Amino acid sequence: MLTGRRVVLGVSGGVAAYKAAYLARRLTERGAEVRVVTTASARAFVGDQTFAAITGHRVVDRLFGVEGSVSPHTELGRWADVVVIAPATAATIARLAHGLSEDALTATVLASRAPLVVAPAMHTEMWEHPATRRNVRRLEEDGVRVVAPGEGPLAGGDVGVGRMAEPEEIVEVICEVLGEGPLQGVSVLVTAGGTREPIDPVRFLGNRSSGKMGHAIAEEALRRGARVVLVTAADLASSPGIERIQVETAAEMEQAVASVQPDVAILAAAVADFRPKAPAADKISRTSGPPSIELEATPDILAGVVGRTPRPLVVGFAAETGSLDRAVRKAQEKGVDLLVANDVTEPGAGFAVDTNRVTIIWPDGRSEPWPLMPKSAVAARLLDLVEGLLGARTETVSSPSDDPAHPGDGR
Ligand code: PMT
Repeated sequence: MLTGRRVVLGVSGGVAAYKAAYLARRLTERGAEVRVVTTASARAFVGDQTFAAITGHRVVDRLFGVEGSVSPHTELGRWADVVVIAPATAATIARLAHGLSEDALTATVLASRAPLVVAPAMHTEMWEHPATRRNVRRLEEDGVRVVAPGEGPLAGGDVGVGRMAEPEEIVEVICEVLGEGPLQGVSVLVTAGGTREPIDPVRFLGNRSSGKMGHAIAEEALRRGARVVLVTAADLASSPGIERIQVETAAEMEQAVASVQPDVAILAAAVADFRPKAPAADKISRTSGPPSIELEATPDILAGVVGRTPRPLVVGFAAETGSLDRAVRKAQEKGVDLLVANDVTEPGAGFAVDTNRVTIIWPDGRSEPWPLMPKSAVAARLLDLVEGLLGARTETVSSPSDDPAHPGDGR
């Protein structure tokens, strides 16, 4: 729901402006208060009266001479919880990328500290032009959320990429940017990627984890409105809304994890179990022959999280090769609420691929194999389970018969 949230909807001139009216309707239906700002070319497609009728407020269509307002752009900019531009033409995107503010719409953007969501719409050639690509990249670097256009019919009977995203999708993005969703108010810690344990300044002990699984979980948690801290050893990108702590070694990951007190911890990282006890200060020379490297155990990060008071809800992962019997034992012994096991030797599952086949194992030994699916879908189903467990935990806390297996830990 968007009850009481204040949305400034900027409309620039393209045929998709008709969809902006529908977007305004969808936003008001969700309880948002919507104020519309139009450019002169937007008004060539849809009249201000349409937006005024839908939102119940006069449209701002000029910087000067607006009745009852001395400075409409700063008033609107400060009022907004979020600014959305849909459709955003190539020209508007170029202005935004360069910080220009010669009309009411771009001036409002510049006068606002609210997050900005931009839904581009234009012909394919314009969308693919290097100048537009550059401008969109610049906006994304500035933390703007760009809702990518889809493929379909465009103005003048053309067909191709450049069609504005559907209003429902834009509403979902707005909810996400505003932190609305089933995990609103919940903090989620996710670990991702494979740690690297130095042998010397140029070599390390590592593993094949790409971070794709953990990053997919972090993105899904963000989409559901959680405050997300991602402790990652991977070099994948992450959304600006995610608080990211970049690490390399198990020790760094342990320290980063220790600095966060989440409600939910999902540990998808492939943490090295062993590291060289005394990494060489200088590059080990080939001429001295193969070295003997003494290893020592790394800290068990999962055990540290499980041992906390108060204890977050903990989801562990288990990378196995072949049978998952060991994972069932891990689920019982490690004190987790759920274990996600995957056979990393199976094609399409485990390391570095975009899909995974996992089996969910509960501490009481129950298990549920899931089919092969995109890691984003694994993340979504996993967070459905997490939401269920959080709900159950809240009920347990409010009930007098607390779980005797976890005295005092609030579950
Ligand atoms: O990153 P991708 O390329 O997308 O690949 C995904 C994945 C295969 C890495 C992921 O799905 C996965 O299985 N992650 C867990 C890998 C792992 O280290 O499993 P494990 O069985 O060795 O460890 C069990 C659990 O203990 C894990 O939650 C792990 O994060 C944690 N652990 C392990 C060692 C250690 N020193 N500290 C830990 O906290």
